[in-house]
Amino acid sequence: LDPVSIIGVKRDDGELTTAQIDAAVHGFTAGSVAPEQMSALAMAILWRGMSRREIADWTAAMIDSGVRMDLTGLRRDGRALRTVDKHSTGGVGDKITLPLTPLIASYGLAVPQLSGRGLGHTGGTLDKLEAVPGWSAQVSPDRLRAQLAQVGAVICAASDDLAPADRKLYALRDVTGTVASIPLIAASIMSKKIAEGTGALVLDVKVGSGAFMTDYDDAAELARTMVSLGADANVATTALLTDMSAPLGRSAGNALEVAEAVDVLAGGGPDDVVELTLALAREMLAAGGLPDVDPAEHLAGGQAMDTWRAMIAAQGGDPAAPLPVAAHRHVVTAPQAGFLSRLDALAVGLAAWELGAGRSVPGAAVSAGAGVTWHAAVGDRIDAGAPVLTLHTDRPDRIAAALARLEGAYDLAGTPPEVPESRVLSRI
Ligand code: URA
Repeated sequence: LDPVSIIGVKRDDGELTTAQIDAAVHGFTAGSVAPEQMSALAMAILWRGMSRREIADWTAAMIDSGVRMDLTGLRRDGRALRTVDKHSTGGVGDKITLPLTPLIASYGLAVPQLSGRGLGHTGGTLDKLEAVPGWSAQVSPDRLRAQLAQVGAVICAASDDLAPADRKLYALRDVTGTVASIPLIAASIMSKKIAEGTGALVLDVKVGSGAFMTDYDDAAELARTMVSLGADANVATTALLTDMSAPLGRSAGNALEVAEAVDVLAGGGPDDVVELTLALAREMLAAGGLPDVDPAEHLAGGQAMDTWRAMIAAQGGDPAAPLPVAAHRHVVTAPQAGFLSRLDALAVGLAAWELGAGRSVPGAAVSAGAGVTWHAAVGDRIDAGAPVLTLHTDRPDRIAAALARLEGAYDLAGTPPEVPESRVLSRI
């Protein structure tokens, strides 16, 4: 079971045994498999792929590298609480977790949303919520259970002992060009979600320029792989494939996205964010045993907002405090009139990142107020000279770099473009 022979099996398109996979994953976590050896193995996996059995074994080894949380036995007023979580593969302007988590909890389900921070052009949910004054992402396992029982909603950082192999491997993949492997992404996401202990899971698998998967068939394969890993682990899992060619909503950036999420919780907000929140909510409610509930009712009725406030306050945040605003703004106006026929998600995400909303090395600080807002959705008419985009930053020296990212990022057409009716492409 020496690492070089394990690498050789995958290099030569062979199938790794369970013992070989355990040796590689556990050896890497413990330090006996060197980073350069794991890099070579990850690259061989990226090129050669893995069978479903290998992916299941890889996922199990990553779960076994740490603790598996137990979220059974949660009760409120003597009633057992079911747990259901959601995971998005990440996109630009994707703030759906923020309204969705309290919305689902407002129906009496428990949502243990263990989230991550952003790296590169997609924002992290924890970075967004840290824009709320006082809010803390650190919640101990005991407090997590208590908050789930009382409020029903927790969004917090995963503890270091949850799938530590994934933490180490993901950092390595990030710097070795080995992120874009369907088996490795599926195992990475599902090991964390299974270890978290949720009873059911809904996946939002993004497709398009702002997503990991730009190709529909690849995204569908990723979704099918994750759904079957969930089923094998007794986590009822479904997936929606959703469009990420244009950024979601009207803003990308931390405080900007929190503000938009609060608009949705108040019964307003951009149509596409509301649509996706409700589509994912229906899946989660059905997974939690409430298939006939219309989640729009608790957005209109204020119950989701009440749960949001309780969730923020339980983690030290002040839901009534004003959100941070960036010190500088730069408006991009339309050179001629037309219909917005394309707005590229990746370009907007990279511009927001340049402006300070994201980080390029793990652990670096992000700016709460930085980001990009767009003044029209795809399909809308824009007058000549009207604002198309506003850049928000504390660092005016970054505006030129952000503008360079936005070069060619949108098109204005003479006739109204065809706009797809829904962000939801399919269900798996
Ligand atoms: N998100 C993860 O958690 N892991 C991956 O490998 C890719 C995206």
